[in-house]
Amino acid sequence: MKRYNWLLGFLCLQVFNVQAQEQFISKRVDSLLKLMTLKEKIGQLNQYSGREVTGPANDRKAYLLKDIQNGMVGSMLNVKGVKDTREIQAEALKSRLKIPLLFSLDVVHGYKTVFPVPLSEAASWDMEAIKQSAHIAAKEAAASGIHWTFAPMVDIARDPRWGRVMEGAGEDPFLGSAIARARVKGFQGEQLGATDAVMACVKHFAAYGAAIAGRDYNPVDMSEQQLREIYLPPFKAAAEAGAATFMNAFNTLNGVPATASTFLQRDILKKEWNYKGFVVSDWGSIREMIPWGFAANLSEAAAYAITAGSDMDMESEAYKNELEKLIQTGKISVDLLDDAVKRILYKKFELGLFENPYKFSDFKREDIVMKDKTHAAAARSMADKSIVLLKNEHQILPLQTDVKKIALIGPLVRAKADLASTWTVYADTTQMTSVEEGLKQRFGTMKFNYAEGCKINTSDTSKFNEAIQTAQNADLVVMVLGEAGNMTGEAKSRANIELPGVQEALFQKIKKTGKKVIVVVMGGRPLIFNTIADQADAIVYTFWLGGEAGHAIADVLSADYNPSGKLPMTFPRSVGQVPLFYNYANTGRPVAKSGDIHYRSAYIDSPNTPRYAFGFGMSYTDFSYTDLRKDKEIMKGGENLNVSFTLTNTGKRKGEEVVQLYLQDKVASVVRPVKELKGFDKVELEPGESKTIKFVITPEMLAFYKSERGWITEPGSFKLMVGGASDQMRLESDFKLE
Ligand code: NOJ
Repeated sequence: MKRYNWLLGFLCLQVFNVQAQEQFISKRVDSLLKLMTLKEKIGQLNQYSGREVTGPANDRKAYLLKDIQNGMVGSMLNVKGVKDTREIQAEALKSRLKIPLLFSLDVVHGYKTVFPVPLSEAASWDMEAIKQSAHIAAKEAAASGIHWTFAPMVDIARDPRWGRVMEGAGEDPFLGSAIARARVKGFQGEQLGATDAVMACVKHFAAYGAAIAGRDYNPVDMSEQQLREIYLPPFKAAAEAGAATFMNAFNTLNGVPATASTFLQRDILKKEWNYKGFVVSDWGSIREMIPWGFAANLSEAAAYAITAGSDMDMESEAYKNELEKLIQTGKISVDLLDDAVKRILYKKFELGLFENPYKFSDFKREDIVMKDKTHAAAARSMADKSIVLLKNEHQILPLQTDVKKIALIGPLVRAKADLASTWTVYADTTQMTSVEEGLKQRFGTMKFNYAEGCKINTSDTSKFNEAIQTAQNADLVVMVLGEAGNMTGEAKSRANIELPGVQEALFQKIKKTGKKVIVVVMGGRPLIFNTIADQADAIVYTFWLGGEAGHAIADVLSADYNPSGKLPMTFPRSVGQVPLFYNYANTGRPVAKSGDIHYRSAYIDSPNTPRYAFGFGMSYTDFSYTDLRKDKEIMKGGENLNVSFTLTNTGKRKGEEVVQLYLQDKVASVVRPVKELKGFDKVELEPGESKTIKFVITPEMLAFYKSERGWITEPGSFKLMVGGASDQMRLESDFKLE
């Protein structure tokens, strides 16, 4: 009891402290606001990109510097490093009120140390590791003068043609929400203002990942139910985890640009979710309302954006040039402006920039943090966990000791910069470890012969013969194939997501030599490689693993690390199946198990099933699932249902399994998906070891969104399923909700 009282007292004190701090900052914000002219207020809403300010003198440099000195800039993106941030902050301190600038940057998967791209990290299903990766990125960025990263990107993506799938956590709202929380906590650390943390920016609000046909910047049309159930949950999770800022999006949602969407930014984010941070526009997205045909001119665009709740204008100069007039003519109220300014100033106070505008720009800390050797080790461990083993015929992997000579074939064997893919900011890509280097370091006594075979994306087959000879002279072949690092990312949509160029043709030639072929596939999205899927002896899918890729791949090929990754996105057989995702609805004419597709919801030229399902990934050991138990058959009056089962490592190696819990609401007044992920756990077991795994099913997990009524549950029958992949349920049972 005593202990309980003490804890309660401590918690009350914490709440009191937080409230007191909030009040204190709000008072400071209000006092400062009173001193500000209309122009100065508008200045706080203006964000410029700073490549020109730190580069050689040019017209734009003079223009930007003048605006900074006149208090017409609230934030700069793309200024980094202690030297440059100090220099530019000094310019801001020449302004009348000396309000410090916020420095922001796209620190998406590491700063100096390059971690795997977010989609790759998502394959780890390891929240602690993901949090740690974000924290190291934040630590390095914060040591280099950065206050604010434009991450995490939490857009749900069901269409692998979209180039930006590599920036997010894949297709599932439950996994996506868990990752969103982990990344926000990782970036922001214990408390904003600590010098090992940066503000997170949750993007792109909202539904940007649903661009029609996977073409970047395209419109989005969807029901509110889809929006609420699939696309918004990770944003809500991030907001609840304390994300300091949001970024809106380039797309329209049901005909309205997200940047102009009052529904998204004011009604949902700021009112319904009671969000106190600020919203930055995406790059030029206010101005882009004009080509959309939504605003006739920049003045209209600015009015739409500020009304809708876009607080900061990234690179449209719409607020800077138009807001003053809009306010003076009474078209926009000064209260709207004040609300936006207050939200931004609040963050500057919270970061402690008024006490010390150079707080994050410390030469000594920058030097120490950038040299921290533990960061590379963390990146390697993260990369280990992110690798997905898709195929392993006759247990050809891990590599056996009788293999003496390996042919390394393919355009990505020696790749370095590709391994970083896009959104690297301070990395020295020449220092990254290629697959060849990683394997040579690990397997010192083996002989490796290299042949490029072909380029990534050309039709040139002239190097095939050399590659075939190299294969013939080896005991075994490791091919490293994939996209180029810059074939995914922003504006990198692909209509054809097969392996580019002649790489699959090269594979077929190599396979014909009769040698065993292990294929490592790299890319920023789920790719299609049907011949390889059918004929390779083993397939290791890595996405983009970052600076330690070569070491991590060697860790897995040698079994120094037993692969544990599971796909965070469905891999289609053909682009015609796209969008393809595991949580689909059954239709009134589902394909019967027999495969009879007569007047069924099916293709006449392809199965409905994916090549590799969401949640799938193999290990060098096996796991059994037994003994499913429930503590009740019926959930009543808001009760939880406790589920447990036994997971056993039945193989000969230590390994990790990602156990997944799926639910299905069998009959509902809104058609429900065949299954929805509602729980997961990554469990490590020694050979022969068993563990009881527990999940708690809450009534909220059974809820769905019904228009007019909001989130509801309906009594009835539910199915629970447990397994190691969305298409491999190992245990199933029914229960009821009353
Ligand atoms: C545009 C991208 O959509 C966004 O994600 C990024 O943060 C900004 N550019 C700034 O680089």
